[in-house]
Amino acid sequence: MTGRLAGKVAVVTGGASGIGAGTIRRFVAEGARCVVADFQADVGQALADEIGDDALFVEVDVTVEDQVAAVVDAAVERFGRLDCVFNNAGVVGAVGPIADTPVEAWDQTMAVLLRGVFLGMKHAARVMVPRGSGTIISTSSTAGITGGLGPHAYTAAKHAIVGLTKSVASELAGHGIRVNAIAPGNIVTAMTADVASGDPDDLETVRGHIERSSPVGRAGVPDDIAYAAVYLASDESGYLNGHTLVVDAGQTTGGRPSNFVASTERMIGAAGRRGV
Ligand SMILES: NC(=O)c1ccc[n+]([C@@H]2O[C@H](COP(=O)([O-])OP(=O)(O)OC[C@H]3O[C@@H](n4cnc5c(N)ncnc54)[C@H](O)[C@@H]3O)[C@@H](O)[C@H]2O)c1
Repeated sequence: MTGRLAGKVAVVTGGASGIGAGTIRRFVAEGARCVVADFQADVGQALADEIGDDALFVEVDVTVEDQVAAVVDAAVERFGRLDCVFNNAGVVGAVGPIADTPVEAWDQTMAVLLRGVFLGMKHAARVMVPRGSGTIISTSSTAGITGGLGPHAYTAAKHAIVGLTKSVASELAGHGIRVNAIAPGNIVTAMTADVASGDPDDLETVRGHIERSSPVGRAGVPDDIAYAAVYLASDESGYLNGHTLVVDAGQTTGGRPSNFVASTERMIGAAGRRGV
């Protein structure tokens, strides 16, 4: 199916790389026009140039309110409307034991991952409320669903995105605006490559790591998240609001099947013998 986002205009933060870049390509393929918003100016501009008239690159640091406001305004100025803001920019941020985490590193992590999402929601609402329509999507993580899957500040910020999504969804529902989140599992991107091997360009090493722990026998790729974003940005998800869509091949619902090999026949028989 194509044209699922025909006529729509989207801002995607973190749009220069990984999940954001994959989403921009998928959105454009589905008929949308996009603002590639990122602080990596060279790669962001290159992606916009490659796409052509349907894309505009705007340099932004999502922690700075004036810059986020300017991205939203640039979308309206260039394309005449704004239908979707995808708050996706992110970093791994502070790592290590809680007792060793510097306050500055904590604050910087929260600024990118949480303040950035808050600012994206705030300025999306500024433009969307008067029009009475729009969708806001934010990238949480499986680390926003359960503990132990990411560093402390990252985990806290990604959980907060789930809560902020519910809170803002309940406010904006009456204005025709839907607010949802996506919680990706392990996806092959520069971010995970950097964690796996210290080289953000080494996608093959991290692909192997992710594949080996994947319940479905393959690594997640940016398109897996981009397809979820297309659904959330499109009118197909019109009755979905305040939701966090987990896209992790089932990792947080139990991972791989266990090696439990008992036979059903015997187990039912055993239950019968116990009078259950
Ligand atoms: N890759 C995964 O396995 C995974 C899993 C769960 C969640 N996520 C989340 O997905 C999102 C995208 O990450 P990715 O994996 O595509 O990584 P990535 O490194 O490929 O892309 C992240 C992008 O965000 C941009 N960015 C970072 N800080 C910024 C800032 N202050 N202002 C503007 N842009 C900024 C970077 O320049 C980069 O282009 C992040 O929020 C991340 O936490 C990723």
